[in-house]
Amino acid sequence: MKARVYPDYEAMSVAVAYVVAGKLEEEPSSVLMLPTGITPLGVYGRLVEMHRSEGLSFANATFFNLDEYLGLTPDHRASYHVYMQEHFYGLINADPARVFVPDGATPDPEAECERYEAAIREAGEIDVCVLGIGRNGHIGFNEPGAPFDSRTRVVELSESTRKINASDFEADRAPERAITVGMATIFDSKSVLLLASGTNKAGAVAATVEDDVSESMPASMLRNHPNAVLFLDEAAASDLGHGVAG
Ligand code: PGA
Repeated sequence: MKARVYPDYEAMSVAVAYVVAGKLEEEPSSVLMLPTGITPLGVYGRLVEMHRSEGLSFANATFFNLDEYLGLTPDHRASYHVYMQEHFYGLINADPARVFVPDGATPDPEAECERYEAAIREAGEIDVCVLGIGRNGHIGFNEPGAPFDSRTRVVELSESTRKINASDFEADRAPERAITVGMATIFDSKSVLLLASGTNKAGAVAATVEDDVSESMPASMLRNHPNAVLFLDEAAASDLGHGVAG
């Protein structure tokens, strides 16, 4: 897996936005898989700016989100529906018919997972999958131990993830369960951009790049991907051994 290290968060975000924009210019009907969290906010901000000032169009693209909390309605302020609407989909010219986020309020989560995976299949291949990485190495909500052959499914969130994400909720923990796109679903993407910023991700980044490929460090799966690139700021790269980050 190639790693690109940028001086700071802003530079990293701009670089990722250019990759996504370049793909859309080359193929306007690209299929994108997108993350939530703090890390991608700079990328979304930059893409929105490109839409407004340079006319970058998203009208023919298809969007899939990686995950959603189970039990949250799409209008819950901590839902990823609201996050995406506020930070991205609501600010660009996305076609709502081609925007997919798992339904966390579904009465039948298993059926929703099947429906979501089928929608991804029907869209064709994911052209670009953008990912953040958890401090424990998770991608999407695939926590340590997630099988590399998993598909979209209901998962239990780890205690550490629930605590880190608690600030979005009026509680000391985020919800217990979520729907996430699976590891194999992510791996099937034609290209993967894995983003990490800040020293609190440095350990996970180093383990991803330098330790064994293992289900205990989900992001390490991407080392076997033919077209996965790690986008880092210097802080996130700070635990990498010499020569690896180049
Ligand atoms: P963050 O989340 O961007 O908010 O750090 C990343 C993740 O947990 O996947």
